[in-house]
Amino acid sequence: MAEQKKKRDGFGSKIGIIAAAAGSAIGLGNIYRFPCELGNNGGAAFLLVYLAVVIFLGIPVMLSELFIGRRSQSNSVGAFKKLAPKTAWPIVGYMGVLCGFLIFAFYSTVSGWTLEYIVKSVANSFQGKDMATLESDFAAFHNMGWRNVIWQGVFILLTGFVVFKGVQNGIEKYAKILMPVLLVILVILGIRAVTLPGAKEGLAFLFKPDFSKINAQVLISALGQGFFSLSLGMGVLITYGSYVKKSDNLTSTAFSVVLADTVIALLAGIVIFPAAFSFGVNPQAGMGLVFNTIPMIFNQMAGGYVFCIIFFVLLAIAALTSTISLLEVVVAYITEELHLNRRWSTVIACVGTMLLGCFVSLSLMENTPFTIGGRTVFDALDFITANVMLPLGGIFIVVFVGWRLGKTHFFEEVTNEGKLKSPLKTVIFFIIRYLAPLAVTVIFISGLLK
Ligand code: TRP
Repeated sequence: MAEQKKKRDGFGSKIGIIAAAAGSAIGLGNIYRFPCELGNNGGAAFLLVYLAVVIFLGIPVMLSELFIGRRSQSNSVGAFKKLAPKTAWPIVGYMGVLCGFLIFAFYSTVSGWTLEYIVKSVANSFQGKDMATLESDFAAFHNMGWRNVIWQGVFILLTGFVVFKGVQNGIEKYAKILMPVLLVILVILGIRAVTLPGAKEGLAFLFKPDFSKINAQVLISALGQGFFSLSLGMGVLITYGSYVKKSDNLTSTAFSVVLADTVIALLAGIVIFPAAFSFGVNPQAGMGLVFNTIPMIFNQMAGGYVFCIIFFVLLAIAALTSTISLLEVVVAYITEELHLNRRWSTVIACVGTMLLGCFVSLSLMENTPFTIGGRTVFDALDFITANVMLPLGGIFIVVFVGWRLGKTHFFEEVTNEGKLKSPLKTVIFFIIRYLAPLAVTVIFISGLLK
């Protein structure tokens, strides 16, 4: 068997897999993308749908991916080849690899901004500025197209370095300590935000649902955001699941990761919306919503200068543990299936991402020529991956587990061959087999038809 030829890397401990999976899940998706999507999709109504997606679909899909990975001991393409030889199933894995590459190409753009903002905060360039100035600075930064491209390149190189060196474990060890610090800073920011004048309106926007706002667009956006934020639907957790020890509890891992990810997203909402309403920022402001509101809160806070630097450093690290997981999927595929060594696999993946990434970053300039179907390349990639490819991948993954691999294998794996109780396994399997494919398909099609 292939896996006996060379020993695969593995996660040392339970906290290892939780830290790695949570590291992948928690990132710009929580702190940047979640508030943007919530702002654009009717506020609290979106939040409700989002929470339902995360609980009823997120947990089962995550468990399915971990199960496929640990069962097959393979990357996301190899897993399907092994578990369903001579079928079309590996296409799901190929789609995941492509999706990882596409996400990395635009995710690294925003990751690059975190570096620019570290520099800005060290240079104290937010201090004393009003909202209008921060907004025009942000727009001016986008118009310096190549500056974005360079930061993006730096971030890709950084990710490539970590993945090539195989020092993810080292990074995750730091992340394990640093992410709780990020949580603490978010709590402090949250307290400052909700005590700003006019903050109440923002809290109402976030927590008082107006059910009439729920439509097909809100459903598909919440679905896409749920998958994006939890890193589901493209095989990250298949790849990571293959590194998990046989004695780890997959179910409790999935619960912990979903909980941690959701808490961070909620906190980001509690920071952004009260502050945005207080400063008069439109919740539909999109990209600037987070990148302008946060420095403005620090401006109004004792010790804001130092906290602001720490915040953007931690945000960059959170982004890094996510980009590592994206690149790892592509690199694991190239090394194991195309049999290139790890160095060349990493170089190829990074150079490819940089090339596509240029178009992504330059598509954010005013009057950019880089648009696809009326959207900027950035928006187009974001939309097609989060709202189309990830849910589609998710459907195939749950159908694969529910109908192709079946209950016996699933129960064996989640109970560690009968050693664990796993009281929820029957309910979860029912969701995987019936509810999840149905729900995702219905939302998906209604989103496409709208
Ligand atoms: N989940 C990460 C975030 O919220 C982004 C991410 C990393 C991702 N790996 C992924 C999204 C795989 C989808 C699929 O920032």
